[in-house]
Amino acid sequence: METNTNARFRLTVLAVTAAMAIAAATTLATCAWAGTQEPPNARGRYLVRIGGCNDCHTGGYLEKTGAVPERERLTGDTLGWQGPWGTT
Ligand code: HEC
Repeated sequence: METNTNARFRLTVLAVTAAMAIAAATTLATCAWAGTQEPPNARGRYLVRIGGCNDCHTGGYLEKTGAVPERERLTGDTLGWQGPWGTT
């Protein structure tokens, strides 16, 4: 009976150790992967570009075929709703 309990205890310790090792390896792998990603603003620019957000949220974007300075983009257009928050 005592041998059985010892074996079960060892198995539990082994399982917990294995789980911790997997968790540590996953964390390390995630950190390494995150370090290779482009900066968040580059990612945001890409998402806005492929989402076509400027087409509706930047005044004159389509007429000027995108030749709107970045600082003037996404400031709203006459499209959409108008209210105390401005034009969206
Ligand atoms: C086809 C035109 C169109 C495109 C493309 C578009 N939107 Fe919109 N968007 C609108 C309209 C119209 C509204 C509604 C305006 C409102 O109700 O305030 C809106 C509302 C919004 C709002 C809510 C604004 C507020 O003040 O509540 C956000 C945020 C937004 N859009 C983000 C985006 C993003 C991000 C993209 C690109 C992925 C995008 N939109 C693409 C037309 C568009």
